[in-house]
Amino acid sequence: MTSTVFTGIAELVTGDPLLEGADHSEHLGLLKDAAVVVQDGLIAWVGPGAAAPPADERQDVGGRAVVPGFVDSHSHLVFAGDRSQEFSARMTGTRYDAGGIATSVGATRGATDDELRTLVAARVAEMRAQGTTTVEIKSGYGLSVRDEARSLRIAAEFTSETTFLGAHVVPPEFAGRRAEYVALVTGEMLTACAPFARWIDVFCEPHSSQAFTEEEAKVVLSAGRDVGLGLRVHGNQLGHGPGVRLAVELGAASVDHCTFLSAEDVEQLAGASETTVATLLPGVEFSTRSPYPNARHLLDAGVSIALASDCNPGTCYSSSIPFVLALAVREMSLTPAQALLAATAGSAKSLRRNDIGMICAGNRADLTVLDAPTYLHLFYRAGVPIACALDPVGDHGR
Ligand code: NIG
Ligand code: FE
Repeated sequence: MTSTVFTGIAELVTGDPLLEGADHSEHLGLLKDAAVVVQDGLIAWVGPGAAAPPADERQDVGGRAVVPGFVDSHSHLVFAGDRSQEFSARMTGTRYDAGGIATSVGATRGATDDELRTLVAARVAEMRAQGTTTVEIKSGYGLSVRDEARSLRIAAEFTSETTFLGAHVVPPEFAGRRAEYVALVTGEMLTACAPFARWIDVFCEPHSSQAFTEEEAKVVLSAGRDVGLGLRVHGNQLGHGPGVRLAVELGAASVDHCTFLSAEDVEQLAGASETTVATLLPGVEFSTRSPYPNARHLLDAGVSIALASDCNPGTCYSSSIPFVLALAVREMSLTPAQALLAATAGSAKSLRRNDIGMICAGNRADLTVLDAPTYLHLFYRAGVPIACALDPVGDHGR
């Protein structure tokens, strides 16, 4: 049981509202010239460098900043194939309508387990190299009993935050037989997938003919809840719709996208701020040329927000939380502090986790080091790879 003291931390963003001696002006729980002691993968002590207790090993980070490891609470990493042509077409005016999901489903079904595992491993490593220490991974490019179950089995090799998204779209072979597909998702497919999943999700979107209606989404989520899965919803992505209302009504942990929100949606989210987090995915707005929601307005209204990548082959093939942070500040009116808290404590809350997203004694030792003297450089130096998860921090999001 070796302990390690990390010293030479010029600026430590803890996110801990109770940390004594910290600067709490922007809710960052910020300490200058700090140290952190880690033991058995957990944080044992946080405080001023001058008061650091002795430990078995010492690691000096050389005057860099340290922030909580990023919590990427929304990704679709289990897929094969390439859809860069779709991205290119969107940049010159083609609208996104979810039709390309079928392309990824075809490629994913055609890949071997080992090919998929290798692809997921590379994407998780890419995330970690950019400061992400916890990742949620959804299925949703298999859409058959076999392919959804193996997607989740492979995802579970990398994270405990696995999400069954059999209700991503109605696959081509079920065209015209939606009710049969919903029955499969809530029956045999759910039974095969639930052992590998913590969450269930549904793409509830009236603006896509392949996605699911409010009624269908309710059936899917209720079935998942009945077998003990937590609830998440893809909602309000392509236009105004019922996703937020449904998520709040069912007590989902998160409703994701929230690109198009009505005043009633915002009011509902504010009223449910302890239960349902609005997870914003600005990489998707970037990659689909959509308008960005105003995150500052949501915070001012009392909504709990999170930021995540939505890394997927269609609407955002970026695994970079620093990119998401930069977009959130530039395009969604958040301050740098608000954005950083949304991608750490906010996304931890959306996963109903209180052991990550904040640097405090007892939490997992998920630390991200910045090759910079202050967290502000995450935004100030946008596009420069300054963030990296600090080793030893554990096991890729478990
Ligand atoms: O989160 N909204 C639905 N699903 C994904 C994109 C799927 C795709 O186009 O491959 C999303 O944006
Ligand atoms: Fe998604």
